[in-house]
Amino acid sequence: MKTIISPSILAADFNILGQQIQEIEKSGAEYLHIDVMDGVFVPSISFGMPVIASIRPGTKLFFDVHLMIVEPVRYVETFAQCGADMITFHLEAAGERTAETIDRIHALGCKAGISIKPGTPVAALEPYIKQVDMILVMTVEPGFGGQKYIGTSTEKIRETRRLLEQYGLQTDVQVDGGITAENVAAVKEAGANVIVAGSAVFRGNIGENVKRLLG
Ligand code: DX5
Ligand code: ZN
Repeated sequence: MKTIISPSILAADFNILGQQIQEIEKSGAEYLHIDVMDGVFVPSISFGMPVIASIRPGTKLFFDVHLMIVEPVRYVETFAQCGADMITFHLEAAGERTAETIDRIHALGCKAGISIKPGTPVAALEPYIKQVDMILVMTVEPGFGGQKYIGTSTEKIRETRRLLEQYGLQTDVQVDGGITAENVAAVKEAGANVIVAGSAVFRGNIGENVKRLLG
């Protein structure tokens, strides 16, 4: 499967955000990973709709919006209006409203992704596996950039890819958290094809960093 790099702007320098997005666009990355945190589902607060709406006209990158918020269904319409191309929410946050949330996202013309935290088993995704466009396997506890990759995640990635194969699906598998030039080959080999990276892209030269992750 083709590898897609999705740089997370959580690690960007917001003083020169537009400039850095231009560098990403030139680097060969196709997605822009946009982390929305509400201070409830995760301890931290990042940014929300006005930031997304304001960067939308400046780039053609695919907006990969990662919602770390409670009751995500309440906000999917607003994020679609702000310019999201894909909306990924957490299974732990949507609970019984998971299927409805996926349908709402699709009805808005966006792709739908579903994410699990490190403590949530892959089997919990099974009821929704045919409905989603992407599965995000969190490889750190969501909430902060710059954390260390959780080693046991590699087996979870493999399990997710195996489950998709059992259903004959070629759905994208995204990884997010602690991905570096050193461990990217292992996550790809395990079955991930959409690679999120914050620190590993924004620390140093963006163009060179993305090329290294693309391999
Ligand atoms: C963590 C976020 C990640 C984060 C990744 O909750 O979902 O997208 O920005 O940052 P790094 O690549 O630095 O671990
Ligand atoms: Zn993220």
